[in-house]
Amino acid sequence: MGFRSDGSLAWLAYLPGEAPSATTSMELAREELRQGLRQLRRAETVDVIADGQGQAYAISKTDTGYVINGGEPGVLYGAYALLSALSRGEQPPEGLREPHFPLRILNHWDNMDGTIERGYAGRSFFFKKNHLSFDPARIRQYARMLASVGINCISPNNVNVRPPMDGLLMQGNVSELKALADILRPFGIRLLVSIDFSMPSHHGLNTADPLNEEVAAWWARTTGEVYCAIPDLAGYLVKADSEYRPGPFTYGRTHAQGANMLARALKPHGGLLFWRCFVYNHKQDWRDTVTDRPKAAFEHYSPQDGQFDDNVVLQIKNGPLDFQVREPLSPLLFAMPRTRKALELQLAQEYTGQQIDLFYHGPQYEDIIEHLPLGNIQYIAAVSNLGDDSNWCGHDLAQASLYAYGRTAWEGACRAQEFAREWAQTTLPEASEEVTGMLMRSGAVYEQYAAPLGIGFLVRPNSHYGPSPEGYEFDLWGTYHRANQHEIGIDRSTNGSGYTAQYPQPLMGLYNNPDTCPEKLLLFFHRLPYDHPMADGRSLVQRVYDDHFEGALGAEDLLAQWKQLKNKIPEGTYERVLSRFERQAANAREWRDVINTYFYRKSGIGDARGRLIHP
Ligand code: GCU
Repeated sequence: MGFRSDGSLAWLAYLPGEAPSATTSMELAREELRQGLRQLRRAETVDVIADGQGQAYAISKTDTGYVINGGEPGVLYGAYALLSALSRGEQPPEGLREPHFPLRILNHWDNMDGTIERGYAGRSFFFKKNHLSFDPARIRQYARMLASVGINCISPNNVNVRPPMDGLLMQGNVSELKALADILRPFGIRLLVSIDFSMPSHHGLNTADPLNEEVAAWWARTTGEVYCAIPDLAGYLVKADSEYRPGPFTYGRTHAQGANMLARALKPHGGLLFWRCFVYNHKQDWRDTVTDRPKAAFEHYSPQDGQFDDNVVLQIKNGPLDFQVREPLSPLLFAMPRTRKALELQLAQEYTGQQIDLFYHGPQYEDIIEHLPLGNIQYIAAVSNLGDDSNWCGHDLAQASLYAYGRTAWEGACRAQEFAREWAQTTLPEASEEVTGMLMRSGAVYEQYAAPLGIGFLVRPNSHYGPSPEGYEFDLWGTYHRANQHEIGIDRSTNGSGYTAQYPQPLMGLYNNPDTCPEKLLLFFHRLPYDHPMADGRSLVQRVYDDHFEGALGAEDLLAQWKQLKNKIPEGTYERVLSRFERQAANAREWRDVINTYFYRKSGIGDARGRLIHP
């Protein structure tokens, strides 16, 4: 196998470094198989037969090897599945395989100047100096990596569309978008573009009112031009009336009116409109104790069920707040049965250690998908954790989360341990057992030191790395825990803000009562005194102390375990990851000390086990 210690091959060590250039998925599948089988030194023959439907494939055994039946790009998925299994010494999957979600989307938050919002792996590999500017060979490597786990749609640009990015759909840029789409197409990947709702008012009109006919005509014309160049464009992604982005509210219109106008421009071309639901009051006065941010999206959207056109997809973050370490599922995911919806996950580790600390998303996704009413959700998207670092993700082990996301989106189920093992076996085969174990533990370790019992936003403002218990407490963003000397947390039960009433039963009942509320979410849903007894008899504050001491030790442990793997890991990878684990251990100590000190100062209750808490 062709391991590279710069991490650039990711989990594709069974393939050569250069991804082939081809015009169809069929051609590509044959070429990848030819090269992969040679690299794996396998003598089997593999026939590829184009006869299936679209994305599905079936692998069957023959006397001399295998045959893959499938469509475009199904055969390519079959080729990667076969090579991956052979490289792990396993039998290729048998029978018909088809994806659960028709679009499995990766949203990049790249800006045209090359920076990446919440990017932790270098700069953009799509944009430079306010242009789409990319290395086709690198894009092919990226596309192959995505296709190998079944991701089939990407948006390259940030949902915060600020000038000059609002000109991305304008002539000049469209030819570059087309060049990108042409490279991605044989890999079965379609483009989606983030747009600015107010675009017409920057490009020729003096309004972007969705009910204005000229505005609708502007969008129809612009969209038609883009589809001329990119006939398989998946559609548009929109962040409207959210964190300073313009939207229908500016014109006194509803989100259904705004979304439908755009959807109608896309409709003749078969395009979809992904409309994000991250809408809340971002200018809250902390003294306002009535407004409760997690309630906002449900309150805003659920009365509009049935009003959205059928090519509008509401894109909903997994939690009601904002990608915190621990949140309940957004109640909107259970609602709006007459509206199409997408689940939005985050791979970028904004609040989960920024690809410095290890946080494998598999277990979190498993928890989310297990509880998701899957029949009510039609699409899936995740915010990318990629950049131009040679290993793509900054932290080599963060690749495992991307891998798990692709597998989850394909399967419509997350088997975190199995996906971690597959990743480790193909990426770091000599240490796969140990690395799988480390990945599986990582989320729990991080949660212990960074998110006590479901409280979010204890992070430093803006950067979101490292502890700051009151960093967001008196700010505008609606992210409060309201600690005083007696108690902490927000009462979101029906006696408090009433947020729990947005859930169907039995969830509502479960969350509403502190005795039945899962402990990991206790302070998300309830306001409780520091001496509140937990199920195991410890007090709430003692549980927080214990978690933080244990979490910091857990981070030390990850570091120690990594050191033991020195001889089993390529040197470059070993050194890069080692320095991250060292930083993580220091970060975890800081979290332990800052959070424990905060709880100690507020409550005046000492640690029952007499450990040092800073004064
Ligand atoms: C978070 C994040 C922002 C991002 C926003 C979004 O608030 O911090 O950087 O723009 O989510 O999802 O739109």
